[in-house]
Amino acid sequence: MPTVRTKSPEETEALGERMGRAAQAGWVIGLDGDLGAGKTAFVRGFVRGVGCGARAHSPTFALLHEYRGGRWPIFHLDLYRLGSADELHSAGLDACLNPTDAVSVIEWFSRADSLAPFLPSLHRIHFRWIDEFTREITHDLPGL
Ligand SMILES: Nc1ncnc2c1ncn2[C@@H]1O[C@H](COP(=O)(O)OP(=O)(O)OP(=O)(O)O)[C@@H](O)[C@H]1O
Ligand SMILES: [Mg+2]
Repeated sequence: MPTVRTKSPEETEALGERMGRAAQAGWVIGLDGDLGAGKTAFVRGFVRGVGCGARAHSPTFALLHEYRGGRWPIFHLDLYRLGSADELHSAGLDACLNPTDAVSVIEWFSRADSLAPFLPSLHRIHFRWIDEFTREITHDLPGL
């Protein structure tokens, strides 16, 4: 899988922006990696790339943020506090797993790993902390 190293938060945002420009309706992008690995930084760029004006921030406490005004609405979820995949259903968030005319980016997607086989348009991105300013980012979006 393609792997890139970024040397600053801005570089990670730029990667997110590139992927946001390429994103197609229906995509679900699962982001994983340790605390502070750069997932939200990536989403900040991604939101710009899709053309939404808003500045993304972590939805850790809200579970879901929506960004509008771009090519598609973006559902930004953070599953850090999720106990099990069933809770997504109870919280009424199923639509975010099957976004027609929207895209979803989901931090800590591994919390809902059991759902992966049912998501045909799922992409995965993994963020690894290398040192204070370096992150290794592995993704399944060849050409980006
Ligand atoms: N190359 C880099 N890419 C991204 N962030 C970087 C990089 N170098 C340093 N940072 C810093 O690392 C932190 C990344 O935080 P961010 O909130 O994006 O992580 P996260 O993966 O979303 O964490 P959490 O799991 O807590 O949501 C920021 O403080 C950012 O400034
Ligand atoms: Mg985050």
